[in-house]
Amino acid sequence: MVAVIACAGKSTRLYPCTNFLSKQLLPLYDKPLIYYPISMLVNAGIKDIAIVVNDENYDLYKRQLKDFDKLGLNIQIILDPKPQGTVGALKVAADFIKGQKVCFVLGDNFFYGKEFEEEFQKAVNLTSGAYCFGYPVKNPSAYGVASFDKKGNVTKLVEKPKNPESNMCVTGLYCYDEKCLEYANKCELSNRNEYEVTDLNMMYLKENNLKLAKMSKKNYWLDAGTSEGLYKASEFVYKTIKKTKKQIGCVEEACYKQ
Ligand code: G1P
Repeated sequence: MVAVIACAGKSTRLYPCTNFLSKQLLPLYDKPLIYYPISMLVNAGIKDIAIVVNDENYDLYKRQLKDFDKLGLNIQIILDPKPQGTVGALKVAADFIKGQKVCFVLGDNFFYGKEFEEEFQKAVNLTSGAYCFGYPVKNPSAYGVASFDKKGNVTKLVEKPKNPESNMCVTGLYCYDEKCLEYANKCELSNRNEYEVTDLNMMYLKENNLKLAKMSKKNYWLDAGTSEGLYKASEFVYKTIKKTKKQIGCVEEACYKQ
Protein backbone atom coordinates (compact mmCIF):
# COMPACT_ATOMS: atom_id res chain seq x y z
CA MET A 1 0.00 0.00 0.00
CA VAL A 2 1.22 3.49 -0.86
CA ALA A 3 0.17 6.68 0.91
CA VAL A 4 -0.85 10.18 -0.04
CA ILE A 5 -0.79 13.03 2.47
CA ALA A 6 -2.86 16.09 1.56
CA CYS A 7 -1.03 19.33 2.43
CA ALA A 8 -2.05 21.71 -0.36
CA GLY A 9 -4.87 23.58 1.40
CA LYS A 10 -4.84 27.28 2.21
CA SER A 11 -5.28 26.68 5.97
CA THR A 12 -7.29 29.85 6.46
CA ARG A 13 -8.29 28.70 9.96
CA LEU A 14 -4.67 29.26 11.03
CA TYR A 15 -4.16 32.72 9.51
CA PRO A 16 -1.94 34.72 10.00
CA CYS A 17 0.50 31.84 10.75
CA THR A 18 -0.29 30.31 7.37
CA ASN A 19 -0.20 33.47 5.22
CA PHE A 20 2.89 32.09 3.47
CA LEU A 21 3.55 28.79 5.19
CA SER A 22 1.76 25.46 4.85
CA LYS A 23 0.24 24.41 8.19
CA GLN A 24 1.92 21.00 8.07
CA LEU A 25 5.28 22.78 8.34
CA LEU A 26 4.24 24.55 11.55
CA PRO A 27 5.49 23.01 14.79
CA LEU A 28 3.37 20.54 16.70
CA TYR A 29 5.37 20.71 19.93
CA ASP A 30 8.90 19.80 18.81
CA LYS A 31 8.48 18.72 15.18
CA PRO A 32 6.75 19.97 12.07
CA LEU A 33 3.18 18.68 11.93
CA ILE A 34 3.96 16.65 8.77
CA TYR A 35 6.33 14.38 10.77
CA TYR A 36 3.40 12.88 12.69
CA PRO A 37 1.47 11.39 9.74
CA ILE A 38 4.74 10.28 8.11
CA SER A 39 5.86 8.40 11.23
CA MET A 40 2.35 6.93 11.66
CA LEU A 41 2.56 5.53 8.12
CA VAL A 42 6.10 4.23 8.54
CA ASN A 43 5.15 2.52 11.81
CA ALA A 44 2.44 0.66 9.87
CA GLY A 45 4.97 -0.46 7.26
CA ILE A 46 4.27 2.06 4.48
CA LYS A 47 7.33 3.64 2.90
CA ASP A 48 6.09 5.00 -0.44
CA ILE A 49 4.58 8.34 0.47
CA ALA A 50 3.41 11.21 -1.75
CA ILE A 51 2.93 14.63 -0.19
CA VAL A 52 0.65 16.89 -2.19
CA VAL A 53 1.51 20.56 -1.73
CA ASN A 54 0.75 23.94 -3.30
CA ASP A 55 3.23 26.00 -5.34
CA GLU A 56 4.09 28.42 -2.49
CA ASN A 57 5.43 25.59 -0.34
CA TYR A 58 6.86 23.13 -2.85
CA ASP A 59 10.53 24.09 -2.30
CA LEU A 60 10.09 24.26 1.47
CA TYR A 61 8.80 20.68 1.64
CA LYS A 62 11.67 19.51 -0.58
CA ARG A 63 14.15 21.11 1.82
CA GLN A 64 12.43 19.98 5.00
CA LEU A 65 12.12 16.33 3.96
CA LYS A 66 15.23 15.88 1.78
CA ASP A 67 17.10 13.63 4.23
CA PHE A 68 14.24 11.15 4.61
CA ASP A 69 15.37 9.36 1.42
CA LYS A 70 18.48 8.30 3.33
CA LEU A 71 16.22 6.56 5.87
CA GLY A 72 14.88 4.21 3.21
CA LEU A 73 11.68 6.10 2.46
CA ASN A 74 10.41 6.98 -0.98
CA ILE A 75 8.95 10.44 -0.43
CA GLN A 76 7.60 12.27 -3.46
CA ILE A 77 6.56 15.89 -3.19
CA ILE A 78 3.78 16.46 -5.72
CA LEU A 79 2.68 19.91 -6.77
CA ASP A 80 -1.05 20.56 -6.95
CA PRO A 81 -1.24 23.64 -9.19
CA LYS A 82 -4.92 24.23 -8.41
CA PRO A 83 -5.92 22.70 -5.06
CA GLN A 84 -9.59 21.69 -5.12
CA GLY A 85 -10.37 19.84 -1.96
CA THR A 86 -9.30 16.58 -0.41
CA VAL A 87 -10.10 14.34 -3.37
CA GLY A 88 -8.31 16.82 -5.63
CA ALA A 89 -5.09 15.79 -3.84
CA LEU A 90 -5.71 12.11 -4.62
CA LYS A 91 -6.34 12.92 -8.26
CA VAL A 92 -3.06 14.80 -8.75
CA ALA A 93 -1.23 11.83 -7.19
CA ALA A 94 -2.75 9.40 -9.74
CA ASP A 95 0.60 8.58 -11.42
CA PHE A 96 2.13 7.85 -8.03
CA ILE A 97 -0.78 5.62 -6.94
CA LYS A 98 -0.77 3.74 -10.27
CA GLY A 99 -3.71 1.50 -9.49
CA GLN A 100 -2.35 0.37 -6.10
CA LYS A 101 -4.12 0.37 -2.74
CA VAL A 102 -3.69 3.71 -1.04
CA CYS A 103 -3.79 5.18 2.44
CA PHE A 104 -5.02 8.75 2.24
CA VAL A 105 -4.22 11.12 5.11
CA LEU A 106 -5.36 14.68 5.68
CA GLY A 107 -2.08 16.15 6.90
CA ASP A 108 -3.57 18.08 9.83
CA ASN A 109 -5.05 15.04 11.58
CA PHE A 110 -3.26 13.77 14.68
CA PHE A 111 -3.78 10.18 15.92
CA TYR A 112 -2.43 8.43 18.98
CA GLY A 113 -3.26 5.22 20.84
CA LYS A 114 -2.61 1.50 21.00
CA GLU A 115 -6.13 0.53 19.92
CA PHE A 116 -5.83 2.98 17.03
CA GLU A 117 -2.49 1.54 15.92
CA GLU A 118 -3.92 -2.00 15.88
CA GLU A 119 -6.96 -0.87 13.93
CA PHE A 120 -4.80 1.10 11.50
CA GLN A 121 -2.69 -1.98 10.82
CA LYS A 122 -5.86 -3.86 9.87
CA ALA A 123 -6.81 -1.04 7.53
CA VAL A 124 -3.39 -1.11 5.87
CA ASN A 125 -3.85 -4.85 5.28
CA LEU A 126 -7.29 -4.46 3.67
CA THR A 127 -8.02 -6.61 0.64
CA SER A 128 -10.98 -4.67 -0.75
CA GLY A 129 -13.18 -1.66 -0.07
CA ALA A 130 -12.58 1.37 2.11
CA TYR A 131 -11.60 1.59 5.79
CA CYS A 132 -12.27 4.75 7.80
CA PHE A 133 -11.90 5.79 11.42
CA GLY A 134 -14.66 7.37 13.51
CA TYR A 135 -14.10 9.38 16.66
CA PRO A 136 -16.74 10.90 18.96
CA VAL A 137 -16.61 14.71 19.02
CA LYS A 138 -18.48 17.59 20.63
CA ASN A 139 -18.73 19.62 17.40
CA PRO A 140 -19.68 17.13 14.65
CA SER A 141 -20.94 19.91 12.34
CA ALA A 142 -17.31 20.82 11.61
CA TYR A 143 -16.57 17.41 10.08
CA GLY A 144 -17.76 14.53 7.95
CA VAL A 145 -20.30 12.69 10.13
CA ALA A 146 -21.63 9.12 10.06
CA SER A 147 -25.27 8.15 10.62
CA PHE A 148 -26.16 4.70 11.91
CA ASP A 149 -29.13 2.31 11.93
CA LYS A 150 -30.32 0.59 15.12
CA LYS A 151 -27.79 -2.21 14.64
CA GLY A 152 -24.96 0.30 14.49
CA ASN A 153 -24.34 -0.05 10.75
CA VAL A 154 -23.36 3.09 8.85
CA THR A 155 -26.29 4.30 6.74
CA LYS A 156 -24.81 7.51 5.35
CA LEU A 157 -21.98 10.01 5.63
CA VAL A 158 -22.63 13.75 5.49
CA GLU A 159 -20.03 16.50 5.13
CA LYS A 160 -20.43 19.24 7.76
CA PRO A 161 -24.12 18.59 8.50
CA LYS A 162 -26.09 21.44 10.08
CA ASN A 163 -28.09 18.90 12.08
CA PRO A 164 -25.74 15.95 12.64
CA GLU A 165 -27.47 12.61 13.30
CA SER A 166 -24.59 11.40 15.48
CA ASN A 167 -21.46 12.72 17.17
CA MET A 168 -19.24 10.29 15.22
CA CYS A 169 -16.79 12.29 13.14
CA VAL A 170 -15.18 10.53 10.20
CA THR A 171 -11.55 11.46 10.72
CA GLY A 172 -9.09 12.35 7.97
CA LEU A 173 -7.52 8.93 7.50
CA TYR A 174 -8.75 6.46 4.90
CA CYS A 175 -7.46 3.25 3.35
CA TYR A 176 -8.77 2.36 -0.10
CA ASP A 177 -8.55 -0.50 -2.54
CA GLU A 178 -7.58 -0.13 -6.20
CA LYS A 179 -10.98 1.38 -7.15
CA CYS A 180 -10.23 4.60 -5.33
CA LEU A 181 -9.18 6.69 -8.33
CA GLU A 182 -12.06 5.44 -10.44
CA TYR A 183 -14.43 6.72 -7.73
CA ALA A 184 -12.39 9.89 -7.16
CA ASN A 185 -12.83 10.79 -10.82
CA LYS A 186 -16.60 10.47 -10.44
CA CYS A 187 -16.78 13.00 -7.57
CA GLU A 188 -18.41 16.30 -8.45
CA LEU A 189 -17.61 19.71 -7.01
CA SER A 190 -19.47 20.46 -3.79
CA ASN A 191 -21.15 23.69 -2.66
CA ARG A 192 -17.79 24.88 -1.31
CA ASN A 193 -16.26 24.18 -4.75
CA GLU A 194 -14.21 21.20 -3.56
CA TYR A 195 -14.01 17.50 -4.39
CA GLU A 196 -15.06 15.99 -1.07
CA VAL A 197 -13.65 12.84 0.48
CA THR A 198 -17.09 12.21 1.99
CA ASP A 199 -18.52 11.80 -1.55
CA LEU A 200 -15.79 9.31 -2.36
CA ASN A 201 -16.53 7.38 0.83
CA MET A 202 -20.25 7.39 0.05
CA MET A 203 -19.49 5.59 -3.24
CA TYR A 204 -17.84 2.79 -1.27
CA LEU A 205 -20.74 2.76 1.20
CA LYS A 206 -23.28 2.43 -1.64
CA GLU A 207 -21.32 -0.62 -2.85
CA ASN A 208 -21.60 -1.95 0.71
CA ASN A 209 -17.83 -1.89 0.91
CA LEU A 210 -16.98 0.68 3.59
CA LYS A 211 -15.88 -0.13 7.11
CA LEU A 212 -15.90 2.50 9.81
CA ALA A 213 -13.77 1.58 12.84
CA LYS A 214 -15.17 3.47 15.83
CA MET A 215 -12.29 4.60 18.00
CA SER A 216 -12.93 5.02 21.69
CA LYS A 217 -11.77 7.92 23.85
CA LYS A 218 -8.91 5.69 25.02
CA ASN A 219 -7.30 6.95 21.83
CA TYR A 220 -6.54 10.54 21.04
CA TRP A 221 -7.57 12.24 17.82
CA LEU A 222 -7.44 15.90 16.93
CA ASP A 223 -7.86 18.08 13.90
CA ALA A 224 -4.73 20.17 14.40
CA GLY A 225 -5.78 22.55 11.64
CA THR A 226 -7.11 25.18 14.04
CA SER A 227 -5.17 27.28 16.55
CA GLU A 228 -6.88 25.46 19.40
CA GLY A 229 -6.34 22.03 17.85
CA LEU A 230 -2.66 22.68 17.16
CA TYR A 231 -2.16 23.99 20.67
CA LYS A 232 -3.97 21.05 22.29
CA ALA A 233 -2.13 18.48 20.18
CA SER A 234 1.20 20.13 21.10
CA GLU A 235 0.30 20.04 24.77
CA PHE A 236 -0.74 16.39 24.47
CA VAL A 237 2.54 15.42 22.78
CA TYR A 238 4.60 17.37 25.31
CA LYS A 239 2.86 15.77 28.31
CA THR A 240 2.85 12.27 26.82
CA ILE A 241 6.55 12.36 25.96
CA LYS A 242 7.33 13.54 29.52
CA LYS A 243 5.16 10.82 31.04
CA THR A 244 6.08 7.85 28.86
CA LYS A 245 9.64 8.94 28.04
CA LYS A 246 8.90 7.75 24.49
CA GLN A 247 9.02 9.80 21.34
CA ILE A 248 5.94 10.61 19.26
CA GLY A 249 6.15 11.53 15.58
CA CYS A 250 9.82 10.67 15.27
CA VAL A 251 10.33 9.59 11.64
CA GLU A 252 13.92 8.48 12.21
CA GLU A 253 12.87 6.16 15.04
CA ALA A 254 9.97 4.74 13.02
CA CYS A 255 12.35 3.98 10.13
CA TYR A 256 14.90 2.43 12.47
CA LYS A 257 12.26 0.11 13.95
CA GLN A 258 11.10 -0.95 10.50
C1 G1P B 1 -12.00 17.31 6.13
C2 G1P B 1 -13.02 16.32 5.59
C3 G1P B 1 -13.98 15.88 6.71
C4 G1P B 1 -13.18 15.31 7.87
C5 G1P B 1 -12.16 16.33 8.36
C6 G1P B 1 -11.26 15.72 9.42
O1 G1P B 1 -12.64 18.51 6.46
O2 G1P B 1 -13.72 16.92 4.52
O3 G1P B 1 -14.86 14.91 6.21
O4 G1P B 1 -14.05 14.95 8.92
O5 G1P B 1 -11.33 16.79 7.28
O6 G1P B 1 -10.32 16.66 9.88
P1 G1P B 1 -11.90 19.94 6.19
O7 G1P B 1 -10.65 19.93 7.00
O8 G1P B 1 -11.62 19.98 4.71
O9 G1P B 1 -12.87 20.97 6.63
